[in-house]
Amino acid sequence: MKTTKIITFAIAATIASVSLSGTALAKKTKLQKNCASCHALATGASEKGKKGPNLVGIIGRKAGTVEGFTKYKALKDADFVWTEELMDEWLANQRKFLKAHGAEFKLGKNTSMAKKVKKEKERKQIIEDLKQIK
Ligand code: HEC
Repeated sequence: MKTTKIITFAIAATIASVSLSGTALAKKTKLQKNCASCHALATGASEKGKKGPNLVGIIGRKAGTVEGFTKYKALKDADFVWTEELMDEWLANQRKFLKAHGAEFKLGKNTSMAKKVKKEKERKQIIEDLKQIK
């Protein structure tokens, strides 16, 4: 009886650890989880059905200039370059960003991106992810 219990426990523990590592491997990045529905995240990735532009190389790039993307609203005539600081502000709250920088950066009043990332830690992670994609 005792042996059976021990064996059962051992099997259960093995199963648990296997499925745990499975989850770890399949775990999506914050960037994929929050942004992939609207943005392609790799060079040459299909943009079919995506509402937003491809984000490869976006930090350091002039806003509103991703080639082939024709649906810019607020960023259509934007006159600024994406830095990590500005990205953090944009991700926290797009409407606030438009209000804060509208005149200075020549932004439109409305955007079709609505995705507030409230936690600073998540925004930092997403920005790191953005720097990794190629
Ligand atoms: C509901 C769809 C949607 C989601 C979700 C979304 N975006 Fe966007 N994003 C857009 C659209 C549409 C634009 C174009 C904005 C405009 O011009 O008004 C945009 C623009 C951007 C830009 C500026 C691109 C450029 O060319 O200057 C960045 C950076 C960006 N998104 C990052 C993100 C990140 C990071 C996430 C995930 C946290 C995200 N977006 C989630 C739709 C989305």
